[in-house]
Amino acid sequence: MELNKKQKEVWDSFIKEQPKILICSGAKRAGKTFVLLLAFLAHVSKYQNMGLNFVIGGANLGTIRRNVLNDLEQILGKELKLNKSSAVEIFGNQVYCFDGANANSWKKARGFTSAGAFLNEATALHDSFVKEVISRCSYKGAVVMMDTNPENPMHTVKTDYIDKDGQKLKSGRLNIRSFHFSLFDNNFLDPEYVESIVASTPSGMFTDRDIHGYWVAPEGVIYKDFNKDIHYISSEELENRRVNFKKYFAGVDWGYDHPGSIVVIGQDDQGYFYLLEEHCKRHEEIDYWVKVAKGVKERYGNINFYCDSARPEHVVRFRREKLRAINADKAVVSGIEEVARLFKQEQLLVVEDKVDRFKKEIFMYVWNQKTGEPVKEWDDVLDSIRYALYTNNKPMRRKGKG
Ligand SMILES: Nc1ncnc2c1ncn2[C@@H]1O[C@H](COP(=O)(O)OP(=O)(O)OP(=O)(O)O)[C@@H](O)[C@H]1O
Ligand SMILES: [Mg+2]
Repeated sequence: MELNKKQKEVWDSFIKEQPKILICSGAKRAGKTFVLLLAFLAHVSKYQNMGLNFVIGGANLGTIRRNVLNDLEQILGKELKLNKSSAVEIFGNQVYCFDGANANSWKKARGFTSAGAFLNEATALHDSFVKEVISRCSYKGAVVMMDTNPENPMHTVKTDYIDKDGQKLKSGRLNIRSFHFSLFDNNFLDPEYVESIVASTPSGMFTDRDIHGYWVAPEGVIYKDFNKDIHYISSEELENRRVNFKKYFAGVDWGYDHPGSIVVIGQDDQGYFYLLEEHCKRHEEIDYWVKVAKGVKERYGNINFYCDSARPEHVVRFRREKLRAINADKAVVSGIEEVARLFKQEQLLVVEDKVDRFKKEIFMYVWNQKTGEPVKEWDDVLDSIRYALYTNNKPMRRKGKG
């Protein structure tokens, strides 16, 4: 098996330094999981037919299947089926698969003695679970391996482990070794693929984390790639383009004290999206929004309205009015990434004379550096756009991590 340079460093550390905790953090698709899985298998094989326990931790059993077991099957050349206690047998040992995302997940690992663990996407796991698994790895020579993409620099995976790279135990054994990966470390990827990922990753935090693998807090304006000279077109230009729309859909963000918003987006047969209408008003009751939505339905047909699920009574009211109201996928950061990617790729255009509030929000919508989330202001039209695009584009997305 050939390894790239960074992976070789990880492997050498595993063989020679034998750290108790071995971490690979960094860019997406960089080769972190791949090298740690090899090391994990090598580790389990040291205890061949000893009937010991090992742990694989992931956000849920679906992500463990997609990110870990499928690759292990490929390497081992055999099918891995979970038994009733969610374990697989590897080299005559039991490897337990635990979902570790929740506050009570740690209880699964309680009372367990493990000779090693592999924790996939460590920032998606609950801190108490990570700590419990580490303390359960008490068998002599046990190793804990973790891979993760970067997040906020205050995340415990960074502060408690990565920042303690080089820490030694009293015995002199190395406790923690951490490696940083950038996308360019993985020379097994097709250069054209790398080029297209770089070109489509939004500027700012997304590029710093996903491409370079840095643990940075987000800062400043959220949609950094928005450029009024590129992303606005006029109704007249749109007319002249003779766009062949294959689909329309709408996004709905309820509001009373804050403005409420309904937007209409058209998708053409070339993969472009056009923001066609914005309706944004404050201090309006649901009857008003029903009227707006019925007007949209008259102009565009019986289209989907992807709605903020925070007001279920409004969603129900829309449905009673024979509007196709669907609860939107509201994952904030991934939703923003989707919209930002479309701006970066110049695939989302805004009909300038059909929007008003958008023009302010696009420059006022900013990150809260402390929380790593957007400041909840100037987000009303942008939220409805995000609900619409993120939910509509769901089936097209590359690799699900949820
Ligand atoms: N040494 C290698 N030889 C062959 N293929 C490799 C090697 N290292 C990585 N790959 C392949 O590159 C791709 C990305 O690797 P991997 O899944 O390990 O990345 P990752 O850093 O875990 O990414 P993510 O953060 O997205 O989970 C995979 O398809 C993997 O099989
Ligand atoms: Mg991975």
